[in-house]
Amino acid sequence: MYLFIYLDIFENIYLLSSLIKEKQTMQETMANEVENKEVLNEETNRNTIDRKEFMRQVGLSFGAIMLMNCLQSCGDGGEIPDPNPTGNSGKVDFTININAAAYANLKNKGTAVVVTAQRVIIARVNDTNGSWIAVDSRCTHEQTTINYRAATNDFLCPNHGSTFSSTGAVTKSPATSPLTRYNTSFDATNNTLRVFA
Ligand code: FES
Repeated sequence: MYLFIYLDIFENIYLLSSLIKEKQTMQETMANEVENKEVLNEETNRNTIDRKEFMRQVGLSFGAIMLMNCLQSCGDGGEIPDPNPTGNSGKVDFTININAAAYANLKNKGTAVVVTAQRVIIARVNDTNGSWIAVDSRCTHEQTTINYRAATNDFLCPNHGSTFSSTGAVTKSPATSPLTRYNTSFDATNNTLRVFA
């Protein structure tokens, strides 16, 4: 009799322990699944952040390159360089003071001065008014700098002998094109001469 009771108790204990063990296994399985899910989410987030960071870096690099190009092309104060910085590009407009040593010759009639930077020759005619002439200083044949001749009030190219009138017209070949002529405006009060296209 007691033996049956013991066996019955033992069997119940065994069943109870099996149930507890099974429950623990199930809990562990569920915990593992939750942990795996969290790891997966974390990996996904990291990949997403990495892609965003990559795009951000690409954007910054592209912006930096564009900025560098802009700075290089728009450098020196952002001013677009003159494609013809030597003058005579239709923009001739300058003023000289004949009190300055470089232009002092022009106080006398029958003289001339070449303004090298502008490539303009300015002559003061030997007439009553001491009138002014300003033309392009480059011979239209092969660009040699011309000379003013006071006696004939014209210009001579020393290279091949072309001559030009006081208005710049060709009077002797081989040059065939006239000199560009500029306007002049003399301020007798300040002794300044403006030359302009
Ligand atoms: S360069 Fe002036 S005539 Fe030839």
